[in-house]
Amino acid sequence: MPDFALLISPAAGAAYFADVREVALAEIAGLAGVEVGDIETRGGMEFLRLTCAETRITDLLRLSFAQGVFQIEEGKWAPVEGGAGFLLHEDFVSGEKYRGKTNEMLTRMLINLALQEADTGAAKPRLLDPMCGRGTSLFWAMRFGLSATGIEQDGAALNEIRRGLKKWTKLHRQKHKLVEGWVQKSNKKGVGKYLDFMAEGQVARVITGDTVNARDLVGRRPFDLLVTDIPYGVQHMGGADGARSPLATIEAAAPGWAACLAPGGVMAIAFNSYIPKRARMEAAFEGLDLQVLKRNVAHRMSESILRDVLLLRKNR
Ligand SMILES: C[S@@+](CC[C@H](N)C(=O)[O-])C[C@H]1O[C@@H](n2cnc3c(N)ncnc32)[C@H](O)[C@@H]1O
Repeated sequence: MPDFALLISPAAGAAYFADVREVALAEIAGLAGVEVGDIETRGGMEFLRLTCAETRITDLLRLSFAQGVFQIEEGKWAPVEGGAGFLLHEDFVSGEKYRGKTNEMLTRMLINLALQEADTGAAKPRLLDPMCGRGTSLFWAMRFGLSATGIEQDGAALNEIRRGLKKWTKLHRQKHKLVEGWVQKSNKKGVGKYLDFMAEGQVARVITGDTVNARDLVGRRPFDLLVTDIPYGVQHMGGADGARSPLATIEAAAPGWAACLAPGGVMAIAFNSYIPKRARMEAAFEGLDLQVLKRNVAHRMSESILRDVLLLRKNR
């Protein structure tokens, strides 16, 4: 099999901090057919050496930390042309900046982990983000060629997303459709109101509502992936009950989240493992026919945030 060197994006440090190498190795570990070697430094850049079939290049370049790939033949490095094959322009995800936005690289990694571990047999997996904020995961999903649905309790999110999309589609002259409606009877609080964004054959839907009612909001058709970044109990001030820890919300929402998932479907949940501790998170999903998957991508963001990812697969 050919030898390759995968360039670790210099920007990965802003997502994974001092733990970049460990996170990169843990993310690539789930990619079938890739034999991972050492990390090598050249010209101040870090490369991950590996061997794989050429058909794996697209998936390699989809990894969150990947910047580019070189093929190595008789000691000579040649950049491999072609890219990750993502749809839409890259600033579709990174263009809008706002308070509480999830890091785009982390979001990309969560989708990769969930795709690697999912076993639903779906030709075109569907993604649910039950705490979607302003839609980073939904927009990433569209770039991956997946359709996605999000739930967000903050009623202001829908208008802000619509405004951002109108601005972005105008700037990029992107063909699209924006449709609004209700998944349940209209009401003054806006609960159940949705916004659909359609482009490049994908659709992202954002629904206003409480994630505890996820099952009623999203309908019966199961999802293959559930990807979310829950409140960190620090800057977002926690869950729906006003408490600092989001645990009570997660405990209340867990049965509904599990019910939204198809057999073989995977949840990738990013959380601050100081609030709540990993054991409490795992316990919240016990008895729901889910299996905890061992993939360690934990990384320290600050003194008060040690970000971890809980990966769970629904039994078949
Ligand atoms: C860390 S933020 C997610 C940010 C999002 N990934 C983004 O990049 O825009 C967590 C989100 O969960 C939402 N949230 C908290 N409790 C919720 C609940 N009970 N139901 C629905 N959303 C909730 C918060 O309003 C917040 O937008």
